[in-house]
Amino acid sequence: MNKSVFELNEIEWWSNWCTLEWLNDSVYLFHSNVFKEELFNRVGYLQGANLLPNFLELAEQKIEKEGACPSVFVFKEDKERIKLKDYKLTDELIVMTLRQKINGFSQVTIEQTTQDKIDEWCKVYLKAFYGELSLYKHVYTILNKLLENPHVQLLHATLGNFVVGVSALYESKECVGVYCVGTLPEFRRKGVATSILKHASEHAENLGKPLVLQTFLADGVQKFYEERGFVKVYSKLVYTKNPRFA
Ligand SMILES: CC(C)(COP(=O)(O)OP(=O)(O)OC[C@H]1O[C@@H](n2cnc3c(N)ncnc32)[C@H](O)[C@@H]1OP(=O)(O)O)[C@@H](O)C(=O)NCCC(=O)NCCS
Repeated sequence: MNKSVFELNEIEWWSNWCTLEWLNDSVYLFHSNVFKEELFNRVGYLQGANLLPNFLELAEQKIEKEGACPSVFVFKEDKERIKLKDYKLTDELIVMTLRQKINGFSQVTIEQTTQDKIDEWCKVYLKAFYGELSLYKHVYTILNKLLENPHVQLLHATLGNFVVGVSALYESKECVGVYCVGTLPEFRRKGVATSILKHASEHAENLGKPLVLQTFLADGVQKFYEERGFVKVYSKLVYTKNPRFA
């Protein structure tokens, strides 16, 4: 399997959320002065790339200028080949693809999000992932742009009359990525995320493309995805310079 198919889907998706720069044809840099997580402030590369030290300094400068901590995402099999001085292993990003059908829950409705529901999408996303709304303005602006992107489908899940879960699908040439799967804390364990994933899987199946997602080991949801039929394809080790929790 060529990892670049899944990697490019992820890179294209998150490039809507932060600044993407290609340092050459297979090494990229993400940086953001809004989102401080590793996901948005990293150097990564496509399979087979010629790495790395000469880029690292430049990347570090750009990320540190944003007030964030630089990370490097390294394919697990490159662990011995790529040694990063001053970096510590902080997490692992697991890439998974769906291998079987998912059963949903009939009381949950999944709809494509349009302009009138963007406000709710934002609030549910922020409450699910951050537990608070301070990034509202930034996420709202991003979502408005995403609405016009033909590769993107924003989804929300309703239970009763409430929007309780969200997600986004990103379609690239050879696969569909599912991102931002989140359920409001008070509506968890009711099948909301499972129903979103079922919808995503049907969408991908209709297009005849594999469904892929990426999840951090530290978030503890790998098992949740495995129980719904996703299997790990490969993973990327997350090395962070001066990690906050070292
Ligand atoms: C991970 C997350 C999306 C799951 O959302 P959810 O809506 O609670 O998911 P579901 O209800 O579909 O499934 C959760 C569990 O509830 C169980 N469940 C679902 N419906 C149920 C019901 N009616 N009664 C009892 N249990 C039920 C499922 O079997 C599942 O069990 P498991 O965890 O043992 O596998 C949610 O916890 C979340 O938003 N987390 C923070 C954001 C995040 O980390 N997202 C993932 C990014 S990759």
